[in-house]
Amino acid sequence: MSQLKLSKETWSSQSIFILAGIGSAVGLGNLWKFPYITGEYGGSAFLLVYLFCVLLVGLPLLIAEITLGRAGQANPVQGMANLARENKASKLWSLLGLNGVLAAGFILSFYSVIAGWSGAYFVSSLQGNFISQDVATIQGDFSALLSSPWQLLFWHTAFSLLAVWIVSRGVKNGLEKAINILMPALFAILLILLGYVVASRGFEESVTFLFQPDFSKLTAEAVLVAMGHAFFTLSLGLGVMMVYGSYLNQQSSIVKASIWIAVADTAIALLAGVIIFSIVFGNNLDAASGPGLLFQTLPVAFSEMWGGWFFGTLFFGLVVLAALSSAISLIEPAVSWFEQNWGIQRNKAAWGFGFVTWVLGIGTVLSFNTWSDIYLFSDKTFFDSLDFLTANIMLPAGGFFMAIFVGWVLSKEKLKGELGLQERTLNQYRVTLRWIVPVLVMIVFIYNLI
Ligand code: PFF
Repeated sequence: MSQLKLSKETWSSQSIFILAGIGSAVGLGNLWKFPYITGEYGGSAFLLVYLFCVLLVGLPLLIAEITLGRAGQANPVQGMANLARENKASKLWSLLGLNGVLAAGFILSFYSVIAGWSGAYFVSSLQGNFISQDVATIQGDFSALLSSPWQLLFWHTAFSLLAVWIVSRGVKNGLEKAINILMPALFAILLILLGYVVASRGFEESVTFLFQPDFSKLTAEAVLVAMGHAFFTLSLGLGVMMVYGSYLNQQSSIVKASIWIAVADTAIALLAGVIIFSIVFGNNLDAASGPGLLFQTLPVAFSEMWGGWFFGTLFFGLVVLAALSSAISLIEPAVSWFEQNWGIQRNKAAWGFGFVTWVLGIGTVLSFNTWSDIYLFSDKTFFDSLDFLTANIMLPAGGFFMAIFVGWVLSKEKLKGELGLQERTLNQYRVTLRWIVPVLVMIVFIYNLI
């Protein structure tokens, strides 16, 4: 009988696993994307739909993905192969893992460029560049950054090096150590910023904007965006949570850990929203300013407000830390696959994979300047195409098939063994994975393509 390829690394404890999961989930999605899409789609009504997606699709899938990881006991490709064999299903299921490894590489390639913007803004803020600047100069600075391939490349490179270096050191020496530093720092900075805005002028308006539902603004597009974002923000569909789950010991509770991760991710997005919109409204700025919200709007506020230098620097530092703990999770599926299946040392696997995604990232760097007129899919630049391909095709496809596998293929006994749920709850959970999740994901998927 052929030998099962099993993962040997493990997390030191359930809490470090939860922290690592939160680290993966909380990133640019929470601090950059969530506030600007919530701003664009009208605030509270969008938020409600998003919460609904997290609860009905995100959480069940998160549990499913971690289950696949721990039950498969290997990287996403091998883990799916192990599970398919055990359950007498087609070998082709390992393609699901491959889809994840590839999608994670694509996402990392542009994630690192955008994280690089935050790096640039952190340093710029630290140098006091925003202090008492006028709006035109600040907005011009962002355009200048985007139009400079060398600057973008520099920050993309710096960020990639840092992320790859952490992963190259292994689960305990690299990932765990980084998570133990990054996450407490992230929580502390968030609380300091919250403390600042609670006493500020825009706080009330921001709370009303986020929490007083106004359904007149809700559109079909907003629903689709909310669903797509639920996937992205919880790092679902790519095997990231699977590989993290494969390092989880048998005594830990997958359901509890998943609830913690989903709740923390949502809470941090909400906190970030309250903080950002308080600053925006307190300074009479526009909530619906799109992707530039973080980089063009907030610095205007930091330039005028009391303590702007300190809070601005802290804020962009927060974005970099959050992005870093997500980026390392994007590297891990590939590295564990290279290590376990190809016998390549972790160190080499991490640097090799990092090099490939770095090169791919150059396409994103150029799509903001030299290649801004070159379109791949219809009207989409290189960056937009990768974003579209991953967010609208690869992630939902990954999530869809994971739900199908856990709902229909994985034996009920195995699922019960992994989750330890009561019979009734287990059945309800299986119905959710068999019907609700796939149907909802399919609707969104088809609508997106049309
Ligand atoms: N969840 C991260 C964020 O919200 O920024 C992004 C991400 C990380 C997506 C890891 C997917 C992933 F596998």
